[in-house]
Amino acid sequence: MKRVFSGVQPTGNIHLGNYLGALKQFVELQKDHECIYCIVDEHAITVPQDPKELQQHILDVAALYMAVGVDPKKSIIFVQSSVSGHAELGWVLCCNSYTGELFRMTQFKAKSGGKESVGTGLLTYPVLMAADILLYDTDVVPVGNDQKQHIELCRDIAIRVNHKYKDTFVVPDGRFMKSGARIMALDDPTQKMSKSAINVHSRISLLDEDNKIKKSIMRATTDSDGEIRFDPENKPGVSNLLNIYSAFSGESVEDIAARFAGKGYGDLKKEVVAATQDALRPIKDNYAQIRESDELKAVLRDGADRANAIAEKTMKRVREKFGLGI
Ligand code: AMP
Ligand code: TRP
Repeated sequence: MKRVFSGVQPTGNIHLGNYLGALKQFVELQKDHECIYCIVDEHAITVPQDPKELQQHILDVAALYMAVGVDPKKSIIFVQSSVSGHAELGWVLCCNSYTGELFRMTQFKAKSGGKESVGTGLLTYPVLMAADILLYDTDVVPVGNDQKQHIELCRDIAIRVNHKYKDTFVVPDGRFMKSGARIMALDDPTQKMSKSAINVHSRISLLDEDNKIKKSIMRATTDSDGEIRFDPENKPGVSNLLNIYSAFSGESVEDIAARFAGKGYGDLKKEVVAATQDALRPIKDNYAQIRESDELKAVLRDGADRANAIAEKTMKRVREKFGLGI
C-alpha cells in the first residue's frame, strides 16, 4: 500500500478551499492507502500565535479531520510537535538546501513582502515541510495548488540527498484535485480563499451557519456580461462558482455551464448555496460531537505513538547515512 502524508496548520477558519483542495482528498485516499494526517503546529508558529488559542486550534483541526471523515482507526492523526523527528530532520535538510531556492518561494515572497525583519522560520518553512513528508517515506502528498512549489522543493531536496548519501528518501508526488485545487476568495476572485482575509464574506468556513453561507455566496463578486461560462482568466468570479459546484457534484465545469445556458448568475449562485449547505451540514453535526468528546486527545496520543514509530526508523537511517551520533 502506498503511503500518504499531509498537514494543515492549526490557525483557525478552516475554509472551503482547505476542504475541496485537501481534506476531501484525505478522506478518499483512506480507502486504499496508508494515510498519515498531521496538525502542523510547528508551521503555525512561523508567525506569532497566542499560545492559548493555538492549543484550541490544534484540537479544532483534529476534530475537523474526523468530522469530514478521516477515520482514526484507518489513518494516523497526530500533532507535529509530539514527534521530535520533524524538527530534527528539518535541521538536517536545512543543511542540504540553499538559501537561494528558499528566497525564490512565492509564498515566502508574499508573506515577507517588503519587510525589513522577517522571521527565519518563514524562510525555512518549506524545508520543515519537506522533513514532514520525507520522515514517513511518503509516496503521495494531497494538497492544494498553492503547495505545488513546496512539493517540488521537497522532491529536489530528496533527490539531492539520495545522490550524495545513496538511497535515503522516497521521492514523493503531489496530488491535486481537478476542481478544488485552487478555490478563490468570493469577494475578490483574483486572490485565493484564505484563512486570514479580513472580510468574512471572502470565505466560507466549514462551520458557517446556513445563513452566512447564503449571504457570502449570493454577494460573491462576478462580472457584468451575464454569461455563465468557464473562463478563469476573463471571468474569475463565475469560474470560481463553477469550480466549487463541480467539486461538490463531480459534474464537469463545462457540463454545469451548459446546463445554466441562458440563466442568470443568481440561479447559479442559488444552486451553489444549496450544494455548499448540504455538504457542510453533516460536517458541522459531526464536529460539534467530536470536539466535545474525551476521545479526541486519546486519538492524538495514539496517533503520535504510531507516527513516532515510523519516524524513528527513518531518523535511525538518516543518522547512519550522515554519520551523526555514535
Ligand atoms: P493551510 O491552511 O495553509 O494549512 O492549508 C491546508 C491545505 O489546504 C493545503 O493543502 C493547502 O494547499 C490547501 N488550501 C489552502 N487554501 C486553499 C485554496 N484557496 N484552495 C484550495 N486549496 C487550498
Ligand atoms: N505548508 C502546508 C500549508 O500551508 C502545510 C503543510 C506543512 C503540509 N507540512 C506539510 C502539507 C506536509 C503537506 C505535507 O498548507
